[in-house]
Formats: sequence, structure tokens, C-alpha cells
Amino acid sequence: MTDATTKTGNAFMYTIGCQMNVLDTELALATLEGDGLNVVEAANEADVVLVNTCSVREKAEEKAYSWLGRMKVLKRNNPELIIGVLGCMAQKEGKLIFRRAPYVDIVAGTAHFTKIDDYVRQVRATGNRILAVGRDEEVETEKRLKARETRHSAYVAVMRGCDHHCTYCVVPNTRGTESSRALEEIVEECRILVGEGTQEITLLGQNIDSYGKRLRPRRRTLSELLYAVADVPGLRRLRFITSHPSDLKPELFQAFKDLPNLMPYLHFPAQSGSDEVLKRMRRGYTFGRYMDLVAAAREAVPDMGLAGDTIVGFSGETDEDFEKTIELHERTRYQNAYIFMYSERDYTPARDLNLPDDVPHDVKKHRINRLMKLQRQWANEENQKKVGRVLEVFGEGPSRKDPDKQEGRSPQNQVVIVESGRDLKGQFYKAEITAGTDAALYGRLV
Ligand code: SAH
Ligand code: SF4
Ligand code: F3S
Repeated sequence: MTDATTKTGNAFMYTIGCQMNVLDTELALATLEGDGLNVVEAANEADVVLVNTCSVREKAEEKAYSWLGRMKVLKRNNPELIIGVLGCMAQKEGKLIFRRAPYVDIVAGTAHFTKIDDYVRQVRATGNRILAVGRDEEVETEKRLKARETRHSAYVAVMRGCDHHCTYCVVPNTRGTESSRALEEIVEECRILVGEGTQEITLLGQNIDSYGKRLRPRRRTLSELLYAVADVPGLRRLRFITSHPSDLKPELFQAFKDLPNLMPYLHFPAQSGSDEVLKRMRRGYTFGRYMDLVAAAREAVPDMGLAGDTIVGFSGETDEDFEKTIELHERTRYQNAYIFMYSERDYTPARDLNLPDDVPHDVKKHRINRLMKLQRQWANEENQKKVGRVLEVFGEGPSRKDPDKQEGRSPQNQVVIVESGRDLKGQFYKAEITAGTDAALYGRLV
């Protein structure tokens, strides 16, 4: 532990992208803290400013460059400022980032973020830029890490990368092929977290259903992992994301029945309802197969909260294709639906396979608006049905929208808002649901 007097500066990190990036930011900041830096909440108070980037849609990359533009201004007033770009865009763009933003000092890809302390030290010592985007070495992740800040709710990465080749997706390029961590190592990390006060753990993987398939001396499965982690004494809630419908095994539903602390929430993106589009996306399942899985999930766990991702306007999507997507949403009745307009990316199979981005922008826009409106209506109807139910809520503290109220999560991972004069962060409490909207449930403490 370094005390305040020996601190070697302040670090700030801005995160764009998925939960894996949220975790990586936490781990990178822990590394810097271990090296004597203070973590601060504002870029203009920092000596080291970092952005953890995402490449999944064009907008995410634009966000990173516009943030970098603001850092350029800060650097004009403070030439000592160190600016670093980490994560998926760093991996994908590499030295192109220096060309577009010459004031950047560090570009570190998805296998290098835990060495950020070394990179900062090197830049300070030499003033030279650092580019670290190689794939030659093993992905160094948690192994090298110092303790991270305790959280009531924590993410644990169980695998990184993805072996699928969904034609629209850049993630296999930015995160590389699948590699799973040893089961024992994951359980040990969870044990440590729970020992330090974590009560909820969400296991992360791009395609978590195929966890363990290449582990030696023997392969492991997601089910095995869930049983092992659920067994950690004191762990109140366990979740996992994200599932791929063609890898999800029905035995998984048994785990939900057997393990009281495995929460009834399943994020398994369909992407489209059209068999033709699914084929062009190379998803490996059909509308019918997806609906069978929805039925099996609901039969095994009647109150399962289902979440999905949908892309509208993928290459060749016709009005009829889109109607099938609407039908899929109507029948699935997602609790949470993440809906995106197709954004064509470099380094994706779609580029090589002659799948052009041929749905006009205004057609995409029209479709996404229509689907979102219907989805809100269906979610609203489903949430109304929950009025009168008593749910156990895990408190997250004051509501962002209304700081006089307290926000928390139901077992299904839904936002529940209650009136309370006390800060309920990190507490478990029961709430009777009194109202529901498309986005949240409202209740009173019982
Ligand atoms: N590994 C996860 C999700 C990865 S990216 C999975 O396979 O489900 C998160 C979501 O972004 C995807 O589910 C998809 O809906 C969306 N997405 C990915 N590539 C996209 C693109 N090129 N344009 C628009 N949305 C995209
Ligand atoms: Fe991308 Fe498909 Fe892998 Fe998900 S499963 S990360 S969508 S390639
Ligand atoms: Fe996540 Fe975006 Fe990378 S979704 S894996 S941060 S491209």
C-alpha cells in the first residue's frame, strides 16, 4: 500500500462499450493504483487520462475520438498529460490512432490493459509513444492483478474472446479467439470477492455457454462452473452473461432449478427473427429453434427474465424479414431488449462475403423506431402484470432519476424503485410492486 504522500499522480479512465470493458477498466485502474496513482472522477484533475474503447458500432468509435479531441485541449494546457487508448478500438486500429490523434501516448489492445502501469512509467521515463497490440503472448488478465476495490456487486471474467463468426460482428477480431480461465482460479477469485463483502457476482463471457471447451486436462462446462461458484459460502446472487442460442444447453436450465442463488435471468440475443437473415448472419439457428429455447426456459423457470439483442437493417433485410423480427419480439416478450441499427464494420466477415450494407438509413431508422415502440408497449404490459407481487431487491442506492428514492434490482435483474429515507445500497429488502412502466418497477418496502 502506498500512502497519499507517495502518490505519483492522478488517473482517470472513461469507459465505452460492454460489461467486459467495465470490468477491464476496474482492473486497469487497480493496476495503476497498485503503482501509486490516485483514481479520480474527472479528467481535468488527472495526470493520466485513459479511454477504454469499443468498436462494435461506428458510433462507439466516434465517441472515443470526440473524447480524445477534448483531451487534446487539456494537453495543450498541461503538456505532461499522458493520454492512453485501451480496449477494442485500440486493438483494431493500432497505430492508425496515432495518425488520427498524434497527441496520444499509449495504444494498448485487449490483451495488454493490465500492463498499463508499466506503459505509464515508460512514457514518463522516455517520452516515447507505446503501441501494444500484439497477440503473440498469452492474454494477461487477472493473474497479474493487485486487489481491486470491493463492490457489493462484481463482475468476473470467465473467458475472453469468441470463436463464432457472426458476419456483422467485430468482436472476434478485437478480442481474439476464445480462451477460458481455469475453473479453480475463477472459484478462488469469487471466494476472495465474497470474503471481502461482495454479495452478487456476474460471470462474463462473450459466448459464455461454450465456457471451458478447450480447458485441459479436461474440458469443463458452464453448468459445472455455475454449480462450483454458487457453492461459495456467502454468495447471495449469481448471474452470467451472454448466452448464444446455438450453444445454450438445456442442462443449464436444471442449474436454475437446483441453485437458489442462481438468479432467473437469461440474456440470449436472437439478433433477428428471419431465417434468411439469421443464415446471412451465420447465427446457426432458426426462428423456430429460438422459440423452442424460449419455451424450454420458461417451462423450467416460469419467472425467468429474458433479455435479447436485435439488429435491424442487416444486409438484405426486407420488410418481410423485419416482420418476422417483430413477431419474435411479440412472442418472446423480452423483459429487456437491446435494439441496434446495423453498422457496417471493417474486419468482419460481412466485408469479405459480399454482404453489403444495403438497407437505406431512413428505412433502418423507421424500422428501429417501430420495433422500439412496440417493445416498450409489450414491456409495459408485462410489467403491469407484476403489480401486487413481492420481490426481493438488492439495493443499489439512491435512484439516478430521483435521488429521494432508492433503486435496486429484482432477481430478474429489473430495476425496482422504492421510497425510503435510508440509503439501501448493498442491502437486501422486500418490495411489493405497486406500478410498472416499460423500463422499471415501482414498489413499497414491506
Ligand atoms: N457476445 C455477445 C454480444 C456482442 S456485441 C453475443 O454474441 O450475444 C453486443 C451486441 O451488439 C450484439 O448482440 C449485437 O446485437 C450488437 N452488434 C454487434 N455487431 C453489430 C453491428 N455491426 N451493428 C449493430 N449492432 C451490432
Ligand atoms: Fe460477436 Fe457473434 Fe461472437 Fe457474439 S457470438 S461476440 S455476436 S461473433
Ligand atoms: Fe465489448 Fe465493444 Fe469490445 S461490445 S467486446 S467493448 S467491441
